[in-house]
Amino acid sequence: MAKLSLGVLGSGAGSNMQSVVDAIAAGTLDAEVKIVLADVPDAKILARARRHGIPCRYLDCAPWKTKLEGKAEDECIRLLKEAGVDTVVLAGFMRIVKPGLLAAFPNRVVNIHPALLPAFPGVHGWTQALDYGCKVAGVTVHFVDAGTDTGPIIVQKSVPVMEDDTPETLHARIQVQEHIAYPEALRVIASGKYRIEGRRVLIG
Ligand code: GAR
Repeated sequence: MAKLSLGVLGSGAGSNMQSVVDAIAAGTLDAEVKIVLADVPDAKILARARRHGIPCRYLDCAPWKTKLEGKAEDECIRLLKEAGVDTVVLAGFMRIVKPGLLAAFPNRVVNIHPALLPAFPGVHGWTQALDYGCKVAGVTVHFVDAGTDTGPIIVQKSVPVMEDDTPETLHARIQVQEHIAYPEALRVIASGKYRIEGRRVLIG
């Protein structure tokens, strides 16, 4: 068991970051959020971090629009290392991370994706599931590898798709499970009682 030192990267509301902060405050996750970085200057995740007294920064990722690369990647790694981070938590971070960050934190970058991978990688996983006509949707927390939403799966949770669902109602149902799944996955990592064999994360 080792207390995790987390660095959170986000782009939006930060409700997943909040679920991690709440789990720590409740004593159900042995971790500390050391720093929060966002690639959107007015992202709500930064306001949330400030409210909790967590150091936070806007990370200017220009000229890249969809990835974290070059100078921004270097700066991100520098800030995370300087803050003493050992585990990087992607919480609604809408950019593809590149090998530089993965090499700086080997097997220690985790992501939450709003679909039951390997179905519906990429953006708006819940809308993809709805449009496909799925009866079940869900969320995946996984280690990040060089692909997009392809890394070894730590936790998955499913939700039913209702006949009258809109993208918004389905996403809201998935988010309830996200907020359970992320602390659960981080507890696995904090426990140290897991191993990665090929694609499989074997727990216990
Ligand atoms: C979450 O639903 C998360 O699964 C999704 O963005 C939302 C962020 O919400 N992530 C992705 O789509 C990544 N491809 P939050 O800012 O409230 O945590």
